[in-house]
Amino acid sequence: MLLAVRVRLEIVRNSSKMYTSNRRVFLRSGITLASALVLRAQGNRVQTRGTVDLRLEARQDWIEVGGRYGRLYAFNGQIPGPVIEAYPGDEVKIALLNRLPETTNLHFHGLHVPSTGNADNVMLRVPPQETLNYSFTLPSDHPAGTFWYHPHVHGSAARQVSRGLAGVFIVRGEIDQLPEIQGAPESVLVLQDFDLDAQGEPLEPGIMEKISGREGRLITVSGRVSPRINIQSGGWIRLRIVNASSSRIYRMQIEEHPFYVIGTDGGFLTQPAIQNEILLAPGERIDVMLKGDRPPGDYHLQSLPYNRGSMGMGMAGMVLQQSAVSLATLQYEGQAEFSWNLPSKLADIDPLPRASVRRQFQLGSAMGMSFSINGRTFSEDRVDTRAVLGAIEDWEFLNPTGMDHPMHIHTNPFQLLRNDGSAIPAWKDTVLVPARSGVAVRTMFRDFEGISMYHCHILDHEDLGMMAALEIKRRIS
Ligand code: C2O
Ligand code: CU
Ligand code: CU
Repeated sequence: MLLAVRVRLEIVRNSSKMYTSNRRVFLRSGITLASALVLRAQGNRVQTRGTVDLRLEARQDWIEVGGRYGRLYAFNGQIPGPVIEAYPGDEVKIALLNRLPETTNLHFHGLHVPSTGNADNVMLRVPPQETLNYSFTLPSDHPAGTFWYHPHVHGSAARQVSRGLAGVFIVRGEIDQLPEIQGAPESVLVLQDFDLDAQGEPLEPGIMEKISGREGRLITVSGRVSPRINIQSGGWIRLRIVNASSSRIYRMQIEEHPFYVIGTDGGFLTQPAIQNEILLAPGERIDVMLKGDRPPGDYHLQSLPYNRGSMGMGMAGMVLQQSAVSLATLQYEGQAEFSWNLPSKLADIDPLPRASVRRQFQLGSAMGMSFSINGRTFSEDRVDTRAVLGAIEDWEFLNPTGMDHPMHIHTNPFQLLRNDGSAIPAWKDTVLVPARSGVAVRTMFRDFEGISMYHCHILDHEDLGMMAALEIKRRIS
């Protein structure tokens, strides 16, 4: 029954050109660490200009998740899919082989790469048994951060992602080599939820559940239920957390430990921010450090109850999580040789200057059965928004509905706007727009012409029409 077909994953890195000195990074962080930590960082040089070349086979298979077997969808037999690592300037070639019983494709969530051709083009379709060769080059100034890939066929996105098709795409940069960052062991936590029947068949939700946004009762972190994460007394660890669930919003807390947030969706913050709680909507990522400064023991990373609302009265609401669920256990083990503080300064990010265009997007539902943006449900044959390459725009998402909608824009990241209209210098590509409220973001359409998408990342909402097309064009003079 278990057809565990192992596909060889080939990641070929061209190592001809190496980044030869870390000195600049060290000087900026002001060499205060023990020399061993510095040596460790030096042993791990960042390469520039390499090639990431791999084959991703999407297939339906019996896969173990969280101690159960499910007839799920996986990339290369793994849930989540393989972690892809690249550097700014790298060429990325991915052959997607579709062995699913349905048409699929790939989207590179958050990457600033073309949305046309065989790059991050969600209009491409890969029918069963066919292969498509994706290929793009990461801009040499691409921010270092945690991105991800998943299928994006309109109408099937929620099913395919919730059956397991999601993987992390890390872009590493010089900033990852700050000794205070690199000195910490790093883990990637992919949050997914599955709904399986007693035989392990995934349950296909009814229309009411789709309207709410499907949630699975089996919550896994990188394919496991409450895995252990080790931390040394006095040391640090780094966690890149990705919400790859199709609808579930995680309100996270760690017993007795604050999160030292160093990055959001699209890269590093300008400085670490201490937070006791993190709300992570579908599509969002957070990059945090934790310090082992509590008495040795076990501490839970918890997902606390969160109400994301419902579309109206008399609706079968979502299964509300009533109590805290343990996502992972932080376990103290050993003693760190060195102890250090985080740098007070991380990335250089300028707030985007004043926008020349301001737009409003009204989120809604039609007859309670489909979802819309500015009154329209998605159509492949229509461009909803036309913008000029190089323009800076303010986009305001207004949500009069009774339900939260995490809004996401492809290709170009954005900065959140404060009430006074100024931009917060941090790159995001997905933002939670809570029920009966609004959120404004500022974006700049850089480098790439073409059609890309913006949509709600509750993938059932996207499939039911809460998506629209943006066309970016050079101004015709
Ligand atoms: Cu992660 Cu258009 O999506
Ligand atoms: Cu995306
Ligand atoms: Cu939504």
